[in-house]
Parts: sequence; structure tokens; C-alpha cells
Amino acid sequence: MAAISRENARPPFLTALCVLFFAAQLLVCCAAKKNVAILTEDNWTSMLEGEWMVEFYAPWCPACRNLQSTWEEFADWGEDLEIQVGKVDVTEEAGLSGRFGVTSLPTIYHVLDGEFRKYTGSRTKDDFISFVDDKKWEKVEPVESWKAPNSFLMSCVSWLFKISMAVRTVHTSITEDYGIPVWGSYCLFAAVTIVAGLLIGMVLVFITDCLCPAAPPKGFYEPIQMDMPPTKVKREDRPTTEEPGEEEEEEEEEEDDDGDAEEDNDANIRKRRVKATAE
Ligand SMILES: *[C@@H]1O[C@H](CO)[C@@H](O)[C@H](O)[C@H]1NC(C)=O
Repeated sequence: MAAISRENARPPFLTALCVLFFAAQLLVCCAAKKNVAILTEDNWTSMLEGEWMVEFYAPWCPACRNLQSTWEEFADWGEDLEIQVGKVDVTEEAGLSGRFGVTSLPTIYHVLDGEFRKYTGSRTKDDFISFVDDKKWEKVEPVESWKAPNSFLMSCVSWLFKISMAVRTVHTSITEDYGIPVWGSYCLFAAVTIVAGLLIGMVLVFITDCLCPAAPPKGFYEPIQMDMPPTKVKREDRPTTEEPGEEEEEEEEEEDDDGDAEEDNDANIRKRRVKATAE
């Protein structure tokens, strides 16, 4: 009873102050958590717009754990610096770690409108802030576009990482959940690899066969018939519109015509000579 009466006796402005204080604490706490954007395979492309600082970390890495509070404090400055601060858990996002070529942890990237620069300075809040605020990133060479995380090449690498992660997951589940020995799992993967290779090979052969058939196209060898009489070879040079089937008949006729023409010519020449001598 005494406690209640004391509570009631508390001046209302003090209660209000308490409520405000806790509300403020709650806001600060939530805001601090929200300031570091979590980036995943599905929404990492949001860092291609505007200015970002992104940390790649793993929960098991001690250096990452040391950096965590600094990174959150730095993220609180994000609004003032007009940048966004994000983080990627490489144990969850193997594809992204492949895409960004993360070989050491933690790795920090500065991203400005799709240009990627690796941050190699010391990992203190002041250095992060000055890197952005004093534009120290200008002195760092950006990652070349052909091997940038948003390039085609790195998309392929990202797929390889995802496939290898999937293989590892399957291997773990085979050996742990089904109790199959490790060599059994290896044999299974070897078999799957060989079968997949055969299938891909067959598909490739099929596609090449469709696109460029092994047999030469019809009529390919026709112009190189060596046993043709010379008159026929000459005829090939002349543009003809006749159907191949009709050729033989007409050839004979034409040969006859040629013969006649020659006779005519001879006759004409003789006539002319006769004329010339007569004059
Ligand atoms: C990306 O997706 C994750 C998981 O869905 C979410 O927690 C995070 O807030 C998203 N980040 C951005 C920048 O949209």
C-alpha cells in the first residue's frame, strides 16, 4: 500500500519524463539496429544506387566480431554522411562472397553509383568517416568493370559458388542424415558428374549437328567434275536458267546448233572471200 501511495505521489511531469526517456532509449536502440542494412542475394543490387559502405563478415570470424560495434556506430553517421551502410553475411550469401571476390574477412567495399572500391584502411570509426567525408576513396582505383561484382563474369563466379555450396550441403546431408560414408558420397558425385558430362556432350553434339551438318550441302561437288568434256565446262560459265533435268536434251540440240552455226560461218566467210576476189 505504501508503495502505491508513493507512486501516486510522484509528480506527473516526472512520470512523463521517465516515459519520454525510455521512449527515446527505445528509438535510439531500434534506429541503431536498423542503420546497418542487411544485404542478401535478392536485394544486393540496391547498393548500385547512391553511395554505400558494405562490410562482408562471418559470425565465426573474430576480427568481424571486433568490428561489429564500430560498424554500427559508423552506420549511425550514415545519414549525416548521406551514405548507406550495409553488411553481408558470407556464410548465408555464398553467391555474394564469390561475386565480390571476398578472400579475407572482414572485407569492406565502398560503392558509388556502381563503382566498387576496396577499403584497405584501418578499421576505426573515424577512418571510415574520413574515407567518405574527405572523399579519400578518390585515391583508390575502382575495380575494373569487367571483373566488377555486377559484371557478367562475376555473375558466373557467383553461380559457381552457389553450385559448390549446394554440393556441399548435399554432401553433408548424405553423410550426416543418411549415414552414407564419405567415399560413398564422393562416388555418387563422381557418377553424377560423369552422367552430367555425357548428357551435356550429347546435347552439344546434337546442337552442332543441327547447326552445321557433317554431310556437304547438295550440289557441293558438282562444279568439280573432271571428266566433263571441255564444251560442257565452258557452258557452266554461261548463266543458265534451265532446269538440271532438261539440260542433256538441250545440250545435244545446242551442239547441233553450234555445228550448223559453224557451217554457216564457214559458208559466209567463203562467200565473202568469193565476193572480195570478184571485186
Ligand atoms: C534485404 O533483404 C533482407 C532479407 O529479406 C532484409 O532483411 C533487408 O532489410 C533487405 N535489405 C534492403 C536494403 O532492402
